[in-house]
Amino acid sequence: MGTIPTASAEAQPTGLAANGISAGTGPNLPAMFDRYRTLLERAMSDAVPPLENHPVNTLLRYHLGWSDQHGNPSPTPASQGKALRPTLCMFACDAFNGEPRHAAYAAAALELIHNFSLVHDDIQDQGAERRHQPTVWALWGTERALVAGDAMQSLGDLTTLHTSDGTDSDTTIRVSNLLTQAYLEMIEGQCRDLQFEQRETIGTDEYLDMIALKTGALIRSSLVIGASVATDDAEVIEGIARFGRAIGRLFQIRDDYLGIWGDDAITGKSTDSDIVQRKKSYPIVYAFQQATGASRNELLRLYGQETLGESDVDRVMQILDDIGAAQQTDSLTEMTAQEGRSALATLELPPWATDDAENLIDFMAYRLF
Ligand code: IPE
Ligand code: IPE
Ligand code: MG
Ligand code: MG
Repeated sequence: MGTIPTASAEAQPTGLAANGISAGTGPNLPAMFDRYRTLLERAMSDAVPPLENHPVNTLLRYHLGWSDQHGNPSPTPASQGKALRPTLCMFACDAFNGEPRHAAYAAAALELIHNFSLVHDDIQDQGAERRHQPTVWALWGTERALVAGDAMQSLGDLTTLHTSDGTDSDTTIRVSNLLTQAYLEMIEGQCRDLQFEQRETIGTDEYLDMIALKTGALIRSSLVIGASVATDDAEVIEGIARFGRAIGRLFQIRDDYLGIWGDDAITGKSTDSDIVQRKKSYPIVYAFQQATGASRNELLRLYGQETLGESDVDRVMQILDDIGAAQQTDSLTEMTAQEGRSALATLELPPWATDDAENLIDFMAYRLF
C-alpha cells in the first residue's frame, strides 16, 4: 500500500492521476470537491489493482470511468461521478482537525461501496444509462453485472482495512464496522424501494424512512467515518450524524426531482425511467396523496400496470403538473436544506468548514446533475 501524501503536498501524480484520470470531475462542483481529489485518486488507484487479472476488471474500470468497454484506458471525466461520499469523509476529518490523508482509504472504500450499489441499482431499476454512458448490465448482461457489483463490494471491504498509514487498528475496526452497518442499511433501503414499486399509496413518513436508508445511510456515515478518524468525542459524532441525516434526505429528494424534470444531457441518466419503473419517488408519493376524482382513478389505472408506456408517462407528467408536484418537491427540498443549516449551526466548526458546508447544502439542493 503506498504512502498517502498530505493534502497540501505538491507530489507528482501517480496511478490514475498520471493517466489523466481524475475522480469527481463535473461542472460547478463546490470547492471542497477539488481539495481532496488527489488523496482520493491515490487511494483509489491503490484499491483496485487486486483485481487486475480478474475477469470483472474491465467492467469495474469501465463503470468507474477509467477505461472504455474494451479495457483501453480512455478516461472519460463525465463518467467518473461526483465523488460526493469520499469528499464528505475527508472534509469531516479535516473539519475536526484530523489529517484528511488518514481518512483517504476509508473515503475510497465509501466510493467503492457506493459504486457497488450503483452497478446493482442499475440492474434493479433497469437503468440503461449512468454517468453519460451505457450501464454495465446494458453492455455485459445482468449476470456479469451482478458479479462485477459483488467484486466492487469486496474491494470496498478490503480497502477499509487500509484506512491509512498512521491510523491505529482500533480506528480501522471502527471504520470497517461503521461502513458495513451503513451499507446494510442501504441494502434495506433498496429492498423497501423495490417493494414500494408494487404499492400505490406510500405515506410521506414511509418514503422519508426509505430514502434515509437507501441513500442517507452512506452519506451520513461518510461524515461520521471521517469525523471518527479525527475524534472519538461522542457529542461531535452525534452532531455530524444529525447534519448527515439532513443532507442525505436533501440529496435524494433533489435526485427524485432530477429523475423526472432533470435534463438527461446533464444528469447522464434517463429521465423517464423512474416513472416507467413505477418508482415511488417523492413527486409520485405526493401525487397519490393529492390527486382526487378522475385524476386519482387514472393514476391508479396507470400504476396498476407492470410498467408504463410512453403515453402513460406523458399522462403522469400532466397530472404531476396539475397538482404542482414540482413546486411541492422544491419546497420539501428547501425545508430539508433548512434542517441541514440548523444542524450545521450546532456544530463547532472553523469558519472555512462552515462556509464549505453551507456551499455544500446549496449544491445539494439546487444541483442539476
Ligand atoms: C446517485 O448518487 C445515487 C443516489 C444515491 C441518488 P450520485 O449522484 O452521488 O452518483 P455519482 O457517483 O455522482 O454518479
Ligand atoms: C439511489 O438509488 C440509492 C442507491 C443506489 C443505493 P436511485 O435508484 O434513486 O438512484 P439513481 O437515480 O438510479 O442514481
Ligand atoms: Mg434505485
Ligand atoms: Mg436507480
